[in-house]
Amino acid sequence: MISAERIPNNVGLSSNKRLQRALEHWQPKYIQWWKDMGPQGFQDYHQVYVRTAVSVDPSGWAHFEYVKLPEYRWGIFLADPVHDRRIGFGDFMGNPVWQEVPGEFRNQLRRLVVTQGDTEPASVEQQRWLGQRCPSLYDLRNLFQVNVEEGRHLWAMVYLLHAYFGREGREEAEELLHRNSGSLDSPRILGAFNEETPDWLSFFMFTYFTDRDGKYQLGTLKESAFDPLSRTCEFMLKEEAHHMMVGTTGVDRVVQRTVEVMREHDTDDVGGLGAIPLPVIQKYLNFHYSVSLDLFGGETSTNVANYYTAGLKGRWLEDRRKDDHKLTSDAIMVDALSEDANGELSIGQTEVSALVGLNTDLRREYIADCQGGVKRWNRILEEGGVRQRLKLPHVAFNRKVGAFAAIEATPDGEKIPAQEWERRQGDWLPTDVDKTYVRSLMQPVHQRGKIAAWIAPPRNGINGQPFDYDYVHLA
Ligand SMILES: [Fe+2]
Ligand SMILES: [Fe+2]
Repeated sequence: MISAERIPNNVGLSSNKRLQRALEHWQPKYIQWWKDMGPQGFQDYHQVYVRTAVSVDPSGWAHFEYVKLPEYRWGIFLADPVHDRRIGFGDFMGNPVWQEVPGEFRNQLRRLVVTQGDTEPASVEQQRWLGQRCPSLYDLRNLFQVNVEEGRHLWAMVYLLHAYFGREGREEAEELLHRNSGSLDSPRILGAFNEETPDWLSFFMFTYFTDRDGKYQLGTLKESAFDPLSRTCEFMLKEEAHHMMVGTTGVDRVVQRTVEVMREHDTDDVGGLGAIPLPVIQKYLNFHYSVSLDLFGGETSTNVANYYTAGLKGRWLEDRRKDDHKLTSDAIMVDALSEDANGELSIGQTEVSALVGLNTDLRREYIADCQGGVKRWNRILEEGGVRQRLKLPHVAFNRKVGAFAAIEATPDGEKIPAQEWERRQGDWLPTDVDKTYVRSLMQPVHQRGKIAAWIAPPRNGINGQPFDYDYVHLA
């Protein structure tokens, strides 16, 4: 049975019996889902050194303890309310924020919550085999930390569905456990969340690029006029920072190790030497970046314009924007295919109203952020005396959503015919040979203080502990 103690929360769950009962009903299904679809082989015996949120103040959400994963205390936390918070954009700008869901926006808000909620368990499913291929106990712990927090993010969305969306909300909460990543019958809603994450290079690229998409989506929902959604996302963003760190430093360490082996053997071809060649790292980057760009949707969207005008979903850092926060008379250039007099398509841009172009605005914020990772990885290459560099591919490369879905383009943004794409895509995206090689490196390292040969150890451990700390007690 759930009690306020079993579900840590700051939403007064014990004083709302109906809601508590509804979540009691959902909880065993969640645990069953976690056991079936969560980390495989690490459910019963192993004690993992994880952070558990027990409150939203700094001491409370950085509480570390050893737990068996299915006994993790998934809690419900909203950031503290902001006194007299006002709607910051759209038609209702300046009005007090909403504590209940307005009837006219019920369907749209539910859709936003469900779409966000669907991504959280999806990533747990995608990553469920990685524990058996981990490069160190430190990495194993980080994987599980990310997994339990994505589980908590599902709880966060399910709480909103149960508390504010009635019977339909409860039905959606069930569906969130029934859809599965990669399932043919009932896949997850968004494409990138149906891709597999079969190796740790994919995991680090995923946590860098795809979790970062999550950060930007949460950033727009944090601006919402629906205050419980805003406060929920605000707190989730704190946890996302750790996921980002895992991705950023994970790729750092892969690149670092590759540089070391390149120098040690004075060769670019480290494939036979147990490290991951730079061209393979670039291909993984190309893949994860391009599928993550798709998550931002089409360049233009009237739905998103309506969300903004209604106050449901704002822009990244809305209050720092120096405009009227209504955008009714503004314009934006968005990516587009242009057609010349002969009907020939080319990669270009077109002007649309700023409201309709909001997806583009968010995607550009994200792209600018992604440049930061590439810059730091290139610094590692430079400091290692290696002349090659990594880079983000062009926005038209490998897109399945939006203006460029209809064409093929090189990583440099040159439009090419479909046959040429077929012939050359293996130069730009991971091939079966690349994946098999990377997969072959994923021999588990479960001894304390040891690390796989394809990755450098981290500079810092977790919570002030050293790298060789006993992060996971294996049975
Ligand atoms: Fe999340
Ligand atoms: Fe995340």
